[in-house]
Amino acid sequence: MCGIIGYIGEENASERIIYGLSRLEYRGYDSAGIAIIDNCKLIRFRSKGRLENLKKKLEHESLKGTIGIGHTRWATHGKPSEENAHPHMDCTGKITIIHNGIIENYFELKEELKKHHHKFASETDTEIFAHLIEENIGKGFEKAVFSALKQIRGTYGMVILYSGEPDKIIAARQGSPLVIGVGKGENYIASDVPSFLKYTRKAMFLEDGDAAVITKTDVQIYNGGKKVTRQARDIKWTSEQAEKSGFPHFMIKEISEEAQAFEDTIIGRIEGSSVKLENVDDKKLKKIKNIRIIACGTSYHAAYTAKYLMEKYAGINTSVDVASEIRYGDPVIDKSTLLITVSQSGETIDTIEAFKNIQKRAGYSIAIVNVVGSTLSRMLDSVIYTHAGPEIGVAATKTFISQLAVLYLLSLHLGSIHGKINDKKMKSSLSSLRKIPGLLKIMLKDKSKVKKIAEKYSKQRDFLYYGRNINFPMALEGALKLKEISYIHAEGYAAGEMKHGPIALVDDKTPNVFLAPENALYEKIISNIQEIKARSGTIIAITNRSNKTMKRFADDIIYMPDIDEDFYPLLAAIPLQLLAYYIGVKKGIDVDKPRNLAKSVTVE
Ligand code: G6P
Repeated sequence: MCGIIGYIGEENASERIIYGLSRLEYRGYDSAGIAIIDNCKLIRFRSKGRLENLKKKLEHESLKGTIGIGHTRWATHGKPSEENAHPHMDCTGKITIIHNGIIENYFELKEELKKHHHKFASETDTEIFAHLIEENIGKGFEKAVFSALKQIRGTYGMVILYSGEPDKIIAARQGSPLVIGVGKGENYIASDVPSFLKYTRKAMFLEDGDAAVITKTDVQIYNGGKKVTRQARDIKWTSEQAEKSGFPHFMIKEISEEAQAFEDTIIGRIEGSSVKLENVDDKKLKKIKNIRIIACGTSYHAAYTAKYLMEKYAGINTSVDVASEIRYGDPVIDKSTLLITVSQSGETIDTIEAFKNIQKRAGYSIAIVNVVGSTLSRMLDSVIYTHAGPEIGVAATKTFISQLAVLYLLSLHLGSIHGKINDKKMKSSLSSLRKIPGLLKIMLKDKSKVKKIAEKYSKQRDFLYYGRNINFPMALEGALKLKEISYIHAEGYAAGEMKHGPIALVDDKTPNVFLAPENALYEKIISNIQEIKARSGTIIAITNRSNKTMKRFADDIIYMPDIDEDFYPLLAAIPLQLLAYYIGVKKGIDVDKPRNLAKSVTVE
């Protein structure tokens, strides 16, 4: 998510840090900050907005310290503002921290710390960590950090300074990447290699559970209380490659981050056998009798998937509208309606305007948004954030899976509030959701099969995608992704509609991609497949690993791990995105910036 850089050595730390932050700007951020230890005193500067604002603040300061940390923040907890920008400090102003990730139990810890008279200056989860260290700093910097680490749950890549021991930086990693740049008489700690590549090409990647004590000449790493060694590797990437962590494009980097994006979005929102959604008013949710979801593009397909979930789990009539259509229509909405908008950017003009026109008539409204502080996040009654982090590729990938994560949680939560889902089903559904990050990792491990299929079909002119029920919106999304990234004409269809038109297109050239896991409608989808085969059509099937029958029907098969049938859309997203990606790459298209498309559509 955000950018981290720390420096310890002989040079001017603030210059090294500002340079490092400038190399991390591509990640997207909304505020920036720096803290330096100068003459045993901790000095901090922070600014909202671009790094330029922070640089201006530093122009008239002559910072001389040779140890410091810096951060670019992409807001997750608390709006983008100077107060919420990192580094954060404890009450004494001697301990300071920068952090990427989410401290899941921060609220409980904050309440506890308040009882011990700690005063907080921000809305962030991060700040509590500085105060947790302060509680034990009497035992020494290292001991205090290690004991604070034991108290937190969640994901973190964090870097800490203490002016009482100004000869070291302590860093810890759990889920959020951190890498040490090993120099001569100086060391760096960063979220990403480009921030120090100009000064050293030796990188030591930390692993989950690692805590590192870094001085200018030494690095000690601990994991589970024991000393461990991590190999320093020579980085051969160019600066540009390094920004993509070695991936050739942001799109494939972001697809590869989907397990993490999903995990970060559900983390802290499942408690035992119930869903806990911050900011959501359960009393209002209980009163609603119908739901309307508004969105555009990929977000619309996430919303469409939710229609099936909300009707199945909560028994509530749900309709999904393309924002540009509902904007000029006369939708029937009253106080029993829950309005939901789904948007990665929170700035899509049609979604904003559509909502403006109908908001007064609705009973309650919830925005599902990725960008904290965006227009939609401020307009609706409540907001649920997807914690996907900044997405740079124009085509939505990891934000789609994060939107689905929130929509699954919200549907289950509505089911529970409306008494439509029993305890057993709730438990098993939440357990399936918890398994998803692991299963996504399995799917992402070997991309070669999808790549091979993509190369085989990359010269085709048209594609058709089919699915039934909850897999139908995935057919729409698969076709959209292919259009966007490969410029190949593609249509998504409800498989039951095949005989009402698309069957006329069957020939030996057009591939038909079927979302066909073994579920309640499997036999029906197999009938559709057979009808195409009977007309010499080509089938690419996406099905579950234990399926023994598909081999008889499909020309090419992509397997997903087995899971409860409601959850296949979450797994199918990966091969659909990869298929589009590899075809686009094979055709030599700039997949990160496809022609005519914009990441955020702010004009009608
Ligand atoms: C553009 C983007 C799509 C995105 C759509 C909706 O078309 O290229 O990737 O799905 O806008 O954007 P939103 O930010 O509202 O999700």
